[in-house]
Amino acid sequence: MTDRPRISARIGGISESATLAVDAKAKAMKAAGRPVIGFGAGEPDFPTPDYIVEAAVQACREPRFHRYTPAGGLPELKEALAAKTLRDSGYEVDPAQILVTNGGKQAIYEAFATLLDPGDEVIVIAPYWTTYPESIKLAGGVPRYVVTDETTGYLATVEQLEAARTDRSKVLVFVSPSNPTGAVYPPEQVREIGRWAAEHGLWVLTDEIYEHLVYGDARFTSLPVEVPELADRTVVVNGVAKTYAMTGWRVGWIIGPKDVVKAAGNLQSHATSNVANVSQVAALAAVSGDLSAVGEMRTAFDRRRQTIVRMLNEIPGVLCPEPQGAFYAYPSVKGVLGKEIRGRRPQTSAELAELVLEQAEVAVVPGEAFGTPGYLRLSYALGDADLAEGVGRLQKLLGEAG
Ligand SMILES: Cc1ncc(COP(=O)(O)O)c(C=O)c1O
Repeated sequence: MTDRPRISARIGGISESATLAVDAKAKAMKAAGRPVIGFGAGEPDFPTPDYIVEAAVQACREPRFHRYTPAGGLPELKEALAAKTLRDSGYEVDPAQILVTNGGKQAIYEAFATLLDPGDEVIVIAPYWTTYPESIKLAGGVPRYVVTDETTGYLATVEQLEAARTDRSKVLVFVSPSNPTGAVYPPEQVREIGRWAAEHGLWVLTDEIYEHLVYGDARFTSLPVEVPELADRTVVVNGVAKTYAMTGWRVGWIIGPKDVVKAAGNLQSHATSNVANVSQVAALAAVSGDLSAVGEMRTAFDRRRQTIVRMLNEIPGVLCPEPQGAFYAYPSVKGVLGKEIRGRRPQTSAELAELVLEQAEVAVVPGEAFGTPGYLRLSYALGDADLAEGVGRLQKLLGEAG
């Protein structure tokens, strides 16, 4: 007998993805016959475009794709990703700088595992996407949070970042458009932050997965293009999930300096080997095609964005800045907390989210999951009718707060 813990401290310390947990609970309630409307998952409601599915169907029939392929990705996909990166971001990269991963999540995990030694600090802007801190901690790193709020549209300034920098700082996580806030950094602020990182010898992990989902006057800009001197210490994370409605296919990638990509590829060669070939061929069709399907989805998201922001701001005590990108609204609900709703007084956004799920059958993710209690995240990547019905239920329930 041994009294060693059954679960390692490293893995025992990870919490379940709150966004996936909310989504799973909502789907289970739905399966049990309850009319739940889910704003939880960051997942487009559209099917994957036909030409992408068709490419995958054909790949299924090719014996070459029934076998192991290079762990770091199909050479033809890496070529296509380099071409796509030049087309979409103006960033010129060699295919040897690309590693194809099982979604953006694996890209993030491998990037931190490759860059961090125990005790290395990573500056993370909050509200943050819930996966960053967990993958930083798994790699032995220490997240240092810079908290932003609705008064600045959730944008961090160089002064705030500088206040979080120490002599242990190694990496800055930069995400624009952002999950969970939808914030998009204007080009001059991207440059300012990039130059600050370059000046202090920091690495940057920049997550560009929402690059094509920007609205109004907002513009996506790629950090290593704006600040070329940072390219040798920049790791770009991207994937097909959000742009092409391909969340279930699991294809993402890392773009970085060759030594980092090689090292991350060594890790992947032991962990998972190549990404499923059929999915890689689907991704190849996606990134080689034109962007018309994305354009149509963006138009729908933009319409839903305007509806959700308007309806949320009609609720007394709720304050929702207009998101400029991605497909999330991140309202403050501080004005509702502590008030009586159906005999209960939710004190935290986590309690409020629970009450909303029970009483209105609407699934939302509490701000606690993103490092900022007092907020809710609502994905507006769901159908227009469901969106209006769901936010209507929220209006009714929270309107009772007294
Ligand atoms: C900011 C951000 N990066 C990366 C991902 C990872 O996406 P996937 O692993 O599905 O490719 C997500 C998904 O929610 C995300 O919101």
